[in-house]
Amino acid sequence: MDTRIETAPLAAIECELLALTIAKGGALNEVVTALDQALDGAISQLLDDGDIEGKPAESLLFHTRGVVTCKRLLLLGVGPEDAVSPDSWRVAAAAAAQQAKKLGLEAWCMSLHGADESADVAQAVVEGAILGSYSYDALKSEQDDLKSPPTEVLLAVDAGEAAAAQEGAQRGAIIGQATNLARDLVNAPANYMTPSLLAEQAEAVSSEVGLRATILEEREMAELGMGSLLGVAQGADEPAKLIVLEHNADRDDLPTYVVVGKGITFDSGGISLKPSQGMEAMKYDMSGAAATLGIMEAVARLDLPLHVVGIMPATENMPGGRAYHPGDVLRSMSGQTIEVISTDAEGRLILADALTYAARFEPEAVVDMATLTGGCIVALGGVACGLMGNDEDLVAQLEAASKACGQKVWELPLWDEYAEQIKSDVADVKNSGGRPASTIIGGMFLKRFTNDYAWAHLDIAGTAWQLHPMGYRVKGATGVGVRLLVQWLRDRCES
Ligand code: BES
Ligand code: MN
Ligand code: ZN
Repeated sequence: MDTRIETAPLAAIECELLALTIAKGGALNEVVTALDQALDGAISQLLDDGDIEGKPAESLLFHTRGVVTCKRLLLLGVGPEDAVSPDSWRVAAAAAAQQAKKLGLEAWCMSLHGADESADVAQAVVEGAILGSYSYDALKSEQDDLKSPPTEVLLAVDAGEAAAAQEGAQRGAIIGQATNLARDLVNAPANYMTPSLLAEQAEAVSSEVGLRATILEEREMAELGMGSLLGVAQGADEPAKLIVLEHNADRDDLPTYVVVGKGITFDSGGISLKPSQGMEAMKYDMSGAAATLGIMEAVARLDLPLHVVGIMPATENMPGGRAYHPGDVLRSMSGQTIEVISTDAEGRLILADALTYAARFEPEAVVDMATLTGGCIVALGGVACGLMGNDEDLVAQLEAASKACGQKVWELPLWDEYAEQIKSDVADVKNSGGRPASTIIGGMFLKRFTNDYAWAHLDIAGTAWQLHPMGYRVKGATGVGVRLLVQWLRDRCES
């Protein structure tokens, strides 16, 4: 999607749809007041009559009938003035983009006048426009019947803010598109997104944006001693892949950050088979890997001055004849032995070896993202990611990034007492501690494989998939993790 900065007065902008935000209890800013006057008070009349108050999710669309050069106006409530954040703008832009898509428009305009931080708000608006007008249509036969999203958004700003808005808009376009890339990968069903196909996609993205791609095959993983990852892969006919992407691979002078994403392209549960009802959703068990690929695309296109490594362990979890059994003991790359209590607690097994592998990059920090536990959906629902870690500073950095980008996270404790639950009689550790505190237990298990570096874990089981559309989170894959970790990595460039 293209973006364009527009500095003309609102009454002189030529477009099919002009979106304006309305804060609850706030006065119209100067620029909107001028437009209101050109419209003979139509906007203030609607406000005075209470047709729109400025509450979040409120919207009102009307034709200007040629009184000004834009054909339609869309008023969007953003809530009380003192609580308006970039995320309010992101949500409003998504609503406008959805309206524009419904009307079949190619371009629409949003007024950013009165926004505090032009760059951040422009970024949020462009992200909202891209995210809100997304739908996954790749597998529909009647392509001609589909509404395509608008291809251009105009941002109306004061002339003095044009440069900042331009910069923010470019960033928003990169991050929004990277999020939609992650969504496409997740929404693709498991027969269209095997580990091999995911690796192909990763290679394609890499050559397009200039990342170094290394794909480790099962033979190489065996040489590295990755018995934990390969244990999970045993039951599947599709070969496992360990996908490693690097931005600024040759720059020894730059600090290194590693992002790891769980890439179970289908989680049947293995021999500890899941119930069949709802199992189709388990195509989204590679949301962590998808976000990792999106993040890598974005950091390359933003050209962040960091060495960033993305690691995606990818396999199916299947109950084949050679599948690992409950009770099996696997030897991980770290040397630790793992008793398999449940073959359905497979995510932590593939991540264990990926986290051990991450140490070779001598990172400043490692963050993993995984649809790890159903318990996280119970605890936090779709609103926040579970956050755990072994380093206070890193956790605080992620909380700061969370506030800046509008993706909520909530910290859960990794207290030593919880380690009791995964003590094994036959091995160093077991992979399941049952239902109590299952999200934390997942984190406790992963922590054992992160001795050498600052590490944080994001359980995205609840946030990666949207059942009911909400704002810019349309139905299906959300691409969670992309905005959050790109923000975190951008922050690392400034510190
Ligand atoms: N991929 C699932 C977790 C999950 C469940 C994500 C539902 C999204 C929706 C994971 O591999 C899993 O099966 N976890 C088990 C762990 C248990 C056996 C310790 C769980 O949470 O039930
Ligand atoms: Mn599972
Ligand atoms: Zn899983």
